[in-house]
Amino acid sequence: MSDVGSAALSGNLAPFIRDRLFIGGEWVRPKSGRVIESIDPATEEVWAHIAEADARDVDDAVAAARAALSGPWSRLEPSRRGALIHRLADLVRQNAGELAAIESRDNGKPLRDTLGEMQRAADWLTFFAGAADKINGHQIPYSPHALAYTRREPVGVVGAILPWNSPILLCCWKLGPALAAGNTLVIKPAEQTPASILEIGRLAAEAGIPAGVVNVVPGYGKVAGAALAAHPGVNKISFTGHHSTAIKIMQAAAGNLKRCSFECGGKSPYIVFDDADLDRALSVAVHSAFRSTGQSCSLASRIFVQRRAYDAFARGLAERAARIRVGHPMDERTHIGPHTSAEQLAKTRDYIQLGLESGARLLTGGGRPSGLDKGYYVSPTVFRDVDTSSRLAREEVFGPVLAVMPFDDEEEVVRLANSTDYGLVGGLWTRDVSRAHRVAAQIEAGLVSVNTFRPVHYMLPYGGYKLSGIGRENGMEALDEFTETKAVVIDLSPNMPADPFAN
Ligand code: NAI
Ligand code: MG
Repeated sequence: MSDVGSAALSGNLAPFIRDRLFIGGEWVRPKSGRVIESIDPATEEVWAHIAEADARDVDDAVAAARAALSGPWSRLEPSRRGALIHRLADLVRQNAGELAAIESRDNGKPLRDTLGEMQRAADWLTFFAGAADKINGHQIPYSPHALAYTRREPVGVVGAILPWNSPILLCCWKLGPALAAGNTLVIKPAEQTPASILEIGRLAAEAGIPAGVVNVVPGYGKVAGAALAAHPGVNKISFTGHHSTAIKIMQAAAGNLKRCSFECGGKSPYIVFDDADLDRALSVAVHSAFRSTGQSCSLASRIFVQRRAYDAFARGLAERAARIRVGHPMDERTHIGPHTSAEQLAKTRDYIQLGLESGARLLTGGGRPSGLDKGYYVSPTVFRDVDTSSRLAREEVFGPVLAVMPFDDEEEVVRLANSTDYGLVGGLWTRDVSRAHRVAAQIEAGLVSVNTFRPVHYMLPYGGYKLSGIGRENGMEALDEFTETKAVVIDLSPNMPADPFAN
């Protein structure tokens, strides 16, 4: 176990205090003087005190970001901008242990997962650092007598509103392309996990990114988040969270027609045809459903298995789920930790109750793991024969609760897979190559995989259909979300233009 891990387990960590916001390159007191008390979900006790921004602090942060937009940042050569993002990526790598420990205490994810996420966050920044000097416009031959070309300019000030499930990683999904394209940002972390993103502000400064380019204002959604969404000085909101929040943000953002991109969760179908490599499909299914305690938008939360393979597959899922080690986030043997908050735990319990009442068969889990009396824990839970029209089959749980259902043929499973308001990720397992392409084309989701699941990567565009969101993160497509395209036309004709008003 790491030093941080054993210190956390023995309760010997000093309280974590960050009572300043990061605005305009300075550490400033929040106007209200207040702090958010952040809970350690493994102990249910306050472990950190983090500065809480309100609308006045958001005003200051937006002003700093606007000023930085026309400052030295705008005059940097793109490759130089890329070099600064590279430096930030290196600093995230160098500080991965500390950053991961902060996140594990704040959101309850196992340290081995948060350590992996810090490496991935840095990889995301590295990819977009390399893109900074490759954001080209193009020339358009619309007339032989004109030169027409496009310029890709930054959209301006970006408000980044973050979730609590992977704070730094998902921050970097926004930060990387936003910075590469020359924007400035005001970042609002989630109130459940306010602790780690201020460190990103600190590292951005250490990397030499000019003051005001990256501002961090932890605060509550209804206060700081709402202020950012409505602010006339913000040009774009990039958000990850619940679609009901996205709807509120879109309404608030309408005042100045802000651009919005939203990533809002899913109810991802995992489809197993009976000709598939079933051992492989089973092994991938278990961590695709339960990692991060089910608190990730891309997880396999509905598993459809073709009738002939159904019983054995459901049994296998339950056996493997029962072997998942639920435990303290800092213990290196832990596979999954607690839920991040009491609210998430309550939501999971509600869906377990719904499953029980709807007549689905509980194969494993459903309650608190033995030996864990404190903390927001629930055992990995598998229901089979879930009614495909029930809420458990169609709504996002965001917890370790899996719905397993049988199907007979391709047409039926495509219909079932699409019978949800979400459309983020989907996956199918088959050895029939024609069927693989046919089904992939029909699944309503932004990312579909065959014989693997959720290959989320900085090179692959990622985003949702339907209530799963608007726009794409990752891949070169992400840069479209952070640039305005300007067409410039220069007349080349030596002749006087005809004047239709002449006679
Ligand atoms: P949420 O959508 O309320 O929170 C996400 C972010 O939005 C936080 O930073 C929050 O402070 C901010 N926010 C909240 N209200 C706002 C407002 N009126 N204006 C501007 N910003 C606002 O999500 P919550 O309540 O934390 O989680 C509820 C559910 O949302 C989860 O159970 C899960 O189903 C889904 N979710 C999906 C995520 C994903 O990765 N797509 C991440 C987090 C939650
Ligand atoms: Mg917390």
